[in-house]
Amino acid sequence: MSVDSNKERVFIFDTTLRDGEQSPGATMTLEEKLQVAESLDEMGVDIIEAGFPIASNGDFEAVVAVAKQVKNATVAGLARAISADIDRAGEAVRHAQKGRIHTFVSTSPIHLAHQMKKTEDEVIEIIARTVTQARNLIDDVEWSAMDATRTPMEFLKRCVETAIKAGATTINLPDTVGYAVPEEHFAMFKEIIETVPGADKAIFSVHCHDDLGMAVANSLAGVAGGARQVECTINGLGERAGNAALEEVVMALRTRGDAMPYYTEIDSTQLSRASRIVSAASNFPVQYNKAIVGKNAFAHESGIHQDGMLKNAETYEIMTPASVGIKETTLVMGKHSGRAAFKDKLKELGYELGDNAFQEAFQRFKDLADRKKHVYDADIVALVDDEVGSVGDRIRLVDMEVVSKTGGTHRCDLTVTIDGEKNSVSLEGTGSVDAIFNAIKAVSGQNPHLVLYAVDGVTGGTDAQASAHVRLEMNGRIASGNAAEPDTLVASARAYLNALNRVMIERGASAQGALAG
Ligand code: KIV
Ligand code: ZN
Repeated sequence: MSVDSNKERVFIFDTTLRDGEQSPGATMTLEEKLQVAESLDEMGVDIIEAGFPIASNGDFEAVVAVAKQVKNATVAGLARAISADIDRAGEAVRHAQKGRIHTFVSTSPIHLAHQMKKTEDEVIEIIARTVTQARNLIDDVEWSAMDATRTPMEFLKRCVETAIKAGATTINLPDTVGYAVPEEHFAMFKEIIETVPGADKAIFSVHCHDDLGMAVANSLAGVAGGARQVECTINGLGERAGNAALEEVVMALRTRGDAMPYYTEIDSTQLSRASRIVSAASNFPVQYNKAIVGKNAFAHESGIHQDGMLKNAETYEIMTPASVGIKETTLVMGKHSGRAAFKDKLKELGYELGDNAFQEAFQRFKDLADRKKHVYDADIVALVDDEVGSVGDRIRLVDMEVVSKTGGTHRCDLTVTIDGEKNSVSLEGTGSVDAIFNAIKAVSGQNPHLVLYAVDGVTGGTDAQASAHVRLEMNGRIASGNAAEPDTLVASARAYLNALNRVMIERGASAQGALAG
């Protein structure tokens, strides 16, 4: 973007792969993490927090793989204030062209008393020791004061001063529990930056959770108070109510540059694509009215709005759909469209698939075009996301027949492959969907708890594809699955299988439990 010399740069630190992925049910596979990292790197994110290396071998390998793949961004790995965590994070990010260790410790009285059982002096000693350890491994060290917004100012200042003296180059003051209000947040940053000795040697960072719906407002207030790094996630994914949404922070700074004299280096035309990639990888649908990237974010339904839009788009539009990467075209591929046209369409929608994935997607597109007259962009997006989201699934649907009788029985005959081997079962339920889910449980030998089941139309019309979402819980893990199909029952079965495959992926939870946000 063009840079106005009167504006100051704000660095974007994306934590979709760490704080975002920590959200229950948002677990991503390695391939999905790499795809997300690639899109973040391409759009100009400055720092990508790729994971929490000590949490499990899978997390460690993911941070290493992201570090090796990323071309432009700094790659950060998270570490508690524990020697083994810091070594492990250092080991993972040393593969990056630019690596960062991000270490944190709680500073609020409530965390000190109940979680850490430490005194203030002990915490100061821990900060000095662990930041020094990290600096001995790498030049770029970020230190975070967990629950900073509930920490008394004088103690917070001591902590920040200690971290900077020990060599921290970025100081992050998170609103871990989403408790702050903008005025307070502004004042906290301003006072710390203006009064802590050595504050000019570090970049200050804002990291807000959305428990009270103020994460973006608080982030922008932090910037006004002097922070020059914003920590955020695509689609606002994250623990509980989520983190500040990257797309909202970026577009707010871009659209209201008159009120906020700051800029980022993000290519905003890639926001819509990144949102789709993260939604598919995490299996978290984007709420329809979500700012910037929701399906309805640029839709004008009411007559008076439509009339104004036709006369001059600026009457009701403060930014253009194109500025966030939404293409005007919505139509139309059909059964006569060939490989080349399909490839062009995928490119236009922001997808580049490998040969195998392309073949699979093309075959599914052909099948869909045989059954459905018009194939819209939204259909293709659903189909490809579905394909990408089920790569690596161990249990796959082969065939299904459901017989349902009003007031009578509901039976599902199901055949799946498990690790390539065919298995069949026939089961009843209180309704068609219950019969399908019972059959899947029986054939897989798993008995997860169903947390959520929802079905939605990808486009309008009775021939629209159904998009099914399933969230399952098993052995303390939660995972989500999505699938789109013209047949609602098949979509439901595939979404259930997708979630089941994910909830069965082993994941070390040892260190994960220690994170609050
Ligand atoms: O919310 C938080 O405090 C965090 C830290 C680990 C930075 O995510
Ligand atoms: Zn957090």
